[in-house]
Amino acid sequence: MAVNNQLVIFDTTLRDGEQSPGASMTQAEKLRIAKALEKMRVDVIEAGFAIASQGDFESVKRIAETIKDSTVCSLARALDSDIDRAAESLKNANSGRIHTFIATSPIHMEYKLQMKPDEVVEQAVHAVKRARNYTADVEFSCEDAGRSELDFLCRIIEAAIDAGASTVNIPDTVGYAIPQQFGGLIRQLIERIPNSDKAVFSVHCHNDLGLAVANSLQAIQNGARQVECTINGLGERAGNAALEEIVMAVNTRADLFNLQTSIDTRHIVPTSRLVSTVTGFPVQPNKAIVGANAFAHESGIHQDGVLKKRETYEIMLAEDVGWNKNSLVLGKHSGRNAFRNRLEELGISLDTETRLNEVFAKFKDLADKKHEIFDEDLQALVSDTVVSAGEETYRLVCMKVASETGVTPVAQLTMMVDGQEVAATAEGGGPVDATYQAIESVVDSGANLQLYSVNNITSGTDAQGEVTVRLEKDGRIVNGMGSDTDIVIASAKAYINALNLILQDSDKMHPQGDV
Ligand code: KIV
Ligand code: ZN
Repeated sequence: MAVNNQLVIFDTTLRDGEQSPGASMTQAEKLRIAKALEKMRVDVIEAGFAIASQGDFESVKRIAETIKDSTVCSLARALDSDIDRAAESLKNANSGRIHTFIATSPIHMEYKLQMKPDEVVEQAVHAVKRARNYTADVEFSCEDAGRSELDFLCRIIEAAIDAGASTVNIPDTVGYAIPQQFGGLIRQLIERIPNSDKAVFSVHCHNDLGLAVANSLQAIQNGARQVECTINGLGERAGNAALEEIVMAVNTRADLFNLQTSIDTRHIVPTSRLVSTVTGFPVQPNKAIVGANAFAHESGIHQDGVLKKRETYEIMLAEDVGWNKNSLVLGKHSGRNAFRNRLEELGISLDTETRLNEVFAKFKDLADKKHEIFDEDLQALVSDTVVSAGEETYRLVCMKVASETGVTPVAQLTMMVDGQEVAATAEGGGPVDATYQAIESVVDSGANLQLYSVNNITSGTDAQGEVTVRLEKDGRIVNGMGSDTDIVIASAKAYINALNLILQDSDKMHPQGDV
């Protein structure tokens, strides 16, 4: 199987990506992202870790019931309970995959699992067989393969393939690998494992040394035919390999890779924006492919070159990855049907007519302030409305901020706290600081502000500002988001959103915690 020239793209934004501190997503947000991934023609969508919580189970189930063109996958430790739960969540999928894993490095086996290597092999085989009772599409991963012994990897992978695994994944869980060495590992595994031709070899690289994409590409050149990646490189700690970078490297250097993917690259930038809006993780301007500067030319020499012949300084077309698609979608006079249709095209379905009316009213308000409404504005508007329609303890009713040269800024605001209106006034070093002091005088959260950032959603001074606020309390981190054409109001919304998130219980289990 490893000799064909099709590279399977396995996206784990909704599972490993969500393991980024503060990147948790609601069920509706995950479904929106899953639909965008399907539209982009991702082969496999890892929708979550079904046993993590009731919410995660329902999310995977809903995605499995909705997505038709991509395989939907659920992660499961090599435990009966996990595998049964994953199977249950996928039972209505058009095409479902169970992805089961166990750690294989000496350090993980001894300290985390406290198991002997023989026991690990036995448990892996049992898990794959159990998963095979539910589906023929079973993936087996050797957690921390990057630090595992070659002989042991050969032994456990051979056994897993014999037990029925159709994909075997080699994760560099802690981001320790170096490209040449990692490529060599993949080559040796494929050469040495006698039944390696019966499975697709996959890689899953973390970016702790900034090498996740380089390692994945080396693995591909050495026979891997599935790559696990995330939009914007989101993921545990420093993240995973970025889908957009892998796909564009393989496409742009087809002369070297001679591989094809099924990805419709024109959906890359919109999907990147969606993931950034939903998670509150901004994309750095110089990020490859999806950063605001990725196709911008600053120096006169480059601009001159590009004008004379584009290829002098450009290796890809911006339009091919979905840039310049900022089409004016709707305006002040657009009706409710046009609005609903555009949302549907963006993969957004609002659950009730009341919700649609609410978002439509906000759209009309925005169209009064900002004449050109782009897809990104709609995404932000929906996120804002859906966020504020969740179970919230706090809500902003109205606010007024005075900011004048030489005078201390003052914020006056009214908030709903558990259904009661509360007013507050505070001074601060600037209008945002005054606003946050006023909110804190009401809620006294005890949370630490770890990050505050503002981005413009589209260009122009009338653009909506999108504010991200990261709060930490008792070790738990959340990201709040708010958008508005007034950035102080956007800041207040983001802070209040983060406060609501920090109040929500998190009973979620981490897949790579203790077994
Ligand atoms: O990084 C890792 O090892 C993982 C596995 C669960 C595949 O995410
Ligand atoms: Zn991972």
